[in-house]
Amino acid sequence: MSVVLVTGGAGYIGSHVCKALRQAGFTPVTFDNLSHGHEWAIRWGPFFYGDLQNSEDLDKAFLEYRPQAVIHLAGSIDLRESIENPYKHYFNNVIGSLSLLKAMVKHQVTSLVFSSSAAVYTTPEYLPIDEDHPKNPVNPYGKTKLIIEEAFKDFHRAHGLNAVSLRYFNAAGADPDAEIGEAHNPETHLITRLILIAQKKEDFFTVYNTSLPTQDGTAIRDYIHVSDLASAHVSALHWLQKKRKPGTFNLGTGQGHSVLQVIDTVKKVTGCPIEVRYENRNLAELPALVADPQRAKQELQWNPMYSDLTQIIETAWKWHSSPILAPV
Ligand SMILES: NC(=O)c1ccc[n+]([C@@H]2O[C@H](COP(=O)([O-])OP(=O)(O)OC[C@H]3O[C@@H](n4cnc5c(N)ncnc54)[C@H](O)[C@@H]3O)[C@@H](O)[C@H]2O)c1
Repeated sequence: MSVVLVTGGAGYIGSHVCKALRQAGFTPVTFDNLSHGHEWAIRWGPFFYGDLQNSEDLDKAFLEYRPQAVIHLAGSIDLRESIENPYKHYFNNVIGSLSLLKAMVKHQVTSLVFSSSAAVYTTPEYLPIDEDHPKNPVNPYGKTKLIIEEAFKDFHRAHGLNAVSLRYFNAAGADPDAEIGEAHNPETHLITRLILIAQKKEDFFTVYNTSLPTQDGTAIRDYIHVSDLASAHVSALHWLQKKRKPGTFNLGTGQGHSVLQVIDTVKKVTGCPIEVRYENRNLAELPALVADPQRAKQELQWNPMYSDLTQIIETAWKWHSSPILAPV
């Protein structure tokens, strides 16, 4: 059984990736500093407590577990925070990733799957967005992802590293068995925030932009179920084993939903009222971001199974309503 080092395996997407890896016969070793992850989310393989910035931690993890591949999810994810505190994001996402790449070269591991993001694209010139769409990220978070994607090309030339960059659109939902789910603190993602309001853990939701050029004036995004994202990582590992070359793939559904559509669906699924307030702040927000996922479907033979919006919200609601949910 093949061992895979999963950085950020205690986080939201990483824990779902570990479950999918275990189900596919791999041994996922979680490497995480628990800055935002949860020990209760590490259930499908060993845990190595460590920090990407610490090369001794990385060396020990590589020597102890001798992974055949790495899946790299660890990083700082709050897009707004990246604008206010760019140092933190450049340090954790760029320096942290370079430190991991250095350790991979040292320990002769050449297969890597990386959590990239739709944030590498700029204001869409056309929709849906394919992988060749121009890149010009508008915030530090997106820039850190693009810098690392660029670094992969040089590590490929110099050291034979084969990295697959998976550009996620909006991750959402929870494990259909309700064993794990999204528990960020603070929570910034739309669907989970609405669920917390439905549960009366938060009071109301504010829509800041209703004058965008979309059918109802609110932002359209492409929501992809976290378990579908997870299965794409397993497909990417198989692809790497077979092709032994770098690759880049969008992970989304190709369908967009506006903020108001999402609010309506959360109300329907939960049967709970959601208080919505409107405040026009003229935020520089992109009207619509929708993926063209054809390359991932064809080349990775990736087939999203849970990403219908209602199903995404049902799984998130089931997990948030579950008595096994650890306190956030
Ligand atoms: N959530 C989304 O919609 C989305 C969209 C696009 C891309 N991504 C990317 O996917 C990845 C995972 O996102 P998530 O939502 O699961 O985030 P998360 O915060 O839940 O998980 C990140 C994990 O990384 C760990 N970590 C952070 N810095 C570390 C360090 N220096 N050393 C060791 N561990 C560290 C945290 O403790 C946490 O467990 C991130 O790289 C993120 O940028 C997420």
